Amino acid sequence: MKIAVDGPAGAGKSTIAKAIAKKLHINYLDTGAMYRTCAYALISRGIDVCDVQAVLSALPALDIRVEYLNQEQRMLLDGIDVSNRIRTQEIAKGASDVAVIPEVRKMLVAMQRDVAKRYDIIMDGRDIGTYVLPDADYKFYITASSAERARRRYLEMQSPEISLQQLEQEIIARDRNDMQREFAPLRQAEDAILVDTTSMNIEEVVAFVLNAIKIHE
Ligand code: CDP
Repeated sequence: MKIAVDGPAGAGKSTIAKAIAKKLHINYLDTGAMYRTCAYALISRGIDVCDVQAVLSALPALDIRVEYLNQEQRMLLDGIDVSNRIRTQEIAKGASDVAVIPEVRKMLVAMQRDVAKRYDIIMDGRDIGTYVLPDADYKFYITASSAERARRRYLEMQSPEISLQQLEQEIIARDRNDMQREFAPLRQAEDAILVDTTSMNIEEVVAFVLNAIKIHE
């Protein structure tokens, strides 16, 4: 079983994918965490993530791994668990910048396909249905208005250092980056089911997705 979930930032992909993974007893892979770990590795080495040459020279030496601990995905950098450290706005922005570099994507996509070979999986990201797993059994494109996505992200933040308006602007800028890049941009796969969650809660979206899977079985 392979399920692809794509969509822009703050649409609720990871919460939904986690819930579906639990219900179906399959693994969940958050591919955004892999781009974040790559950005974190570069930034902590003092490398400018927009400097393509510098990123390309550093890339072969990066030791990034995905592991499952009690069914939960952990991101390892040089053997150290950085799963919590990658959850900052700075790293989110850095992830979106390194994600435009084809060599970065190829390296991480190879790891993603390898995980998909080993496990039944629900994977979320930007290019899963279009590029990483084009033959996935089910594909969903989960979105919501930018105002609603910013509102959700804001509520998630423990001590927000930016205003809701600033957060919405950052999300819009990141969406543009993700949709306009040349290589494997964010877009809805032709065979993906569109779910606009602007006025749906998590339970409704999970029920919708499970129902779509059941109907086809
Ligand atoms: O959680 P959020 O939606 O804010 O972001 P994320 O899923 O952690 O991904 C961070 C960034 O990584 C995105 O803005 C994308 O630029 C990039 N990304 C990507 O290019 N392709 C993926 N499959 C997943 C993430």
